[in-house]
Amino acid sequence: MQTEQDAIIEEAQAAADEAQDSRALYEAKMKFLGRTGKVTALLKGMRDVAAELRPAFGKRVNELREKLEAMFAAREERMKQRELAAKFAHEQVDVTMPGRRHAKGALHPVTLVKNRLVDIFAGMGFEIFEGPEIETEYYNFTALNTPADHPARDMQDTFYVSGEYLLRTQTSAGQIRLMEKKKPPIKMLSPGRVFRADDDATHSPMFHQMEGLVVDKGITLGDLQGMLDEFARTMFSETSKTRLRPSYFPFTEPSVEVDVSCAACGGKGCSLCKGTGWIEVLGAGMVNRRVLENCGVDPDVYSGFAFGMGIERIAMLKYGINNIKLLTENDTRFLEQFKD
Ligand code: PHE
Repeated sequence: MQTEQDAIIEEAQAAADEAQDSRALYEAKMKFLGRTGKVTALLKGMRDVAAELRPAFGKRVNELREKLEAMFAAREERMKQRELAAKFAHEQVDVTMPGRRHAKGALHPVTLVKNRLVDIFAGMGFEIFEGPEIETEYYNFTALNTPADHPARDMQDTFYVSGEYLLRTQTSAGQIRLMEKKKPPIKMLSPGRVFRADDDATHSPMFHQMEGLVVDKGITLGDLQGMLDEFARTMFSETSKTRLRPSYFPFTEPSVEVDVSCAACGGKGCSLCKGTGWIEVLGAGMVNRRVLENCGVDPDVYSGFAFGMGIERIAMLKYGINNIKLLTENDTRFLEQFKD
């Protein structure tokens, strides 16, 4: 038995020496200590050993098992260290190497201006309302006091979708949708895309507007101008002023065109403002009584003002962009200039 034990130990050592990795080492170990391994077979064979010899036999086999277990455990530990070292050597990273650069995007100038406008008016307590881009004639025109035969419908060349559906020509449609749902006091800001069959250096068939609507008891044109002054100072420059000129919109009475003093020349007159010192920025006015009535708001109790501005136009003024097409061409040489 002693020699058999030594032989098994030698054999196991040789098998362990041959193993190149932990997997092979485990397999070698199983050949001796596994369920069908040699040592296990010896233990099973104990049945056939004479009863008086069994304790001594059992003791020797157990010793053998312990020796082998210790031998394999030591080698497993060494193997693990070796494999770990190899893995570390292989996976070594140079932490000082510069990372791969990803081109950084920038917000589109129209988005920048829209966000700024939302900031400014949200700060004055306006809530955002977004209406649908496909509208009915009723919301886009009729309810805004612009019946089918009204000449003002020609002011805005409309894309019709089918039947009474059209691509909204103005965010003013949102005024009606909100007033149908909500009773005064109202302070609404409605940004969105609008569409008109119009195409030149300052007009694009698709552009963005920002509509504002305030309805409450005792609202006056003075409130409108005060709020627009605040808007001009925050959007353009601390010294910006506004000027109201009489105008016409079917849904406001009186209606005004709002000019902001030219930020480029401080109102002295330059090429941007064509020597006038003023730049036309938006349309506005007191909400026409008929519009209030159409929405079930009593015009003898409530009054309001509305304004609508082109976001592209504001962006062009703010950033000195001379062609509206630059805003839709997606030329990164242009867009990159708005990175912060
Ligand atoms: N909807 C008008 C336009 O698109 C602008 C406007 C809005 C005027 C609200 C007055 C009041 O030209």
